[in-house]
Amino acid sequence: MRENSERLYERSRSVMPGGVSSPIRAFAPFPSFIKRADGPLLFDVDGNRLVDLCLGYGPMILGHGHPAVFEEVMRQAHEGLLYGAPSPQELEFAEKLVGRVPGADMMRLANSGGEATMHALRLARGFTGRNGVVKAVGGFHGAHDALLVKPGSAAMERCLPGSAGVPAEAVEATSLMEFNDPDSAASILEKGDVAAVIVEPVMGNCGVVPPAPGYLRELRRLTEENGTLLIFDEVITGLRVSSGGAQELYGVEADLCTMGKAIGGGLPAGALLGRREIMEMVSPSGPVYVAGTFSGNPMTAAAGLAVLNHLDAATYRSLDSKGDKVAGGLRDIIADRGVKACVNSVGSMFQVFLGADQVCNGSDAAACDAAAFRALFLHMLEQGYYLPPSQFESNFLCTEHHNQHLDGLLEAFDSGLREVDPSV
Ligand SMILES: Cc1ncc(COP(=O)(O)O)c(C=O)c1O
Repeated sequence: MRENSERLYERSRSVMPGGVSSPIRAFAPFPSFIKRADGPLLFDVDGNRLVDLCLGYGPMILGHGHPAVFEEVMRQAHEGLLYGAPSPQELEFAEKLVGRVPGADMMRLANSGGEATMHALRLARGFTGRNGVVKAVGGFHGAHDALLVKPGSAAMERCLPGSAGVPAEAVEATSLMEFNDPDSAASILEKGDVAAVIVEPVMGNCGVVPPAPGYLRELRRLTEENGTLLIFDEVITGLRVSSGGAQELYGVEADLCTMGKAIGGGLPAGALLGRREIMEMVSPSGPVYVAGTFSGNPMTAAAGLAVLNHLDAATYRSLDSKGDKVAGGLRDIIADRGVKACVNSVGSMFQVFLGADQVCNGSDAAACDAAAFRALFLHMLEQGYYLPPSQFESNFLCTEHHNQHLDGLLEAFDSGLREVDPSV
């Protein structure tokens, strides 16, 4: 029963390209329109109650409408939405975030993860005086030109624009490496002129792909050896995989890191953090121009502070154990049913890959059965579980998911596998 969503989608398509404000939200035959959210649940315009495993694509780590965040946001709304001047709450937010991220001495707030990575690239180029940038196949860092690339025909090192409207010159200096393959990074770095390697330490935009043991450390070594900055894009993993993000979890410090999603508690947020020597290059203290009307706005700072104050060691232990339960349960079902599929997870991030025995990088992910995944997604939706509608995203758990949600999720997945592959 999704008639009201269908009607709204028809209307939306005449005023919004594809009927949505961001492409991933559109799925066939039509997306669900959401009316309200509460804790781990979404309620659509047809009155369906959905357990939310998408969580706004990651940010809602405390679930929807958490009292701690809600109260701070309401309090701040009474005191002003935007000042266009520094505020004490922005400073406190910066101090707390910098305090959590290993290796970070300073930060600049932005309004989205994409803004933060765009600034990070400019800063890396400004600091090193070099031009080249390396990213991983299947990595996503926001919708700006230099990183919207796809592999060229000859070799991965020759990138093509990944979107109409991106000039070839904008991606001329961008190269692609394969995640979890240090040699593919080394061969590009050896040629010189690489300002930065930017990588999601846990890939979250081609499903979930954890780093192989030692991989991030090797990237650290290679970048250092070549005078290249290492940028960890922690827009997903920041505050998600541990209080200090992937840098804390894996014990590897990047030169710069970008954050977004969870740090804003559901309000638009981004942040660029790094070593003092590099961050001092940011305007107005240095020559690398980075600016934004809404950057460091008091509403985001208030919501972000509430999230930071709430996430303690016990919360992470609980999130991780929920993630282990779900990933373990999914693996058991796959093994019992004898289906060709695998599950990748890190803490409270997880994804199922259909048609693959293992997924170690973006190319492995691209070879999975995305059509079968779409069928599974629609089945889960019918059963009342709202997953991100793509094989190439991560599912997320929040503090408000309880055993009944997780058990139900596993049951729905079990019946979904039969729907996707009637032979099981
Ligand atoms: C790893 C990563 N970096 C950057 C971005 C862009 O963030 P935003 O959508 O806030 O611009 C995303 C968005 O999904 C992301 O997953």
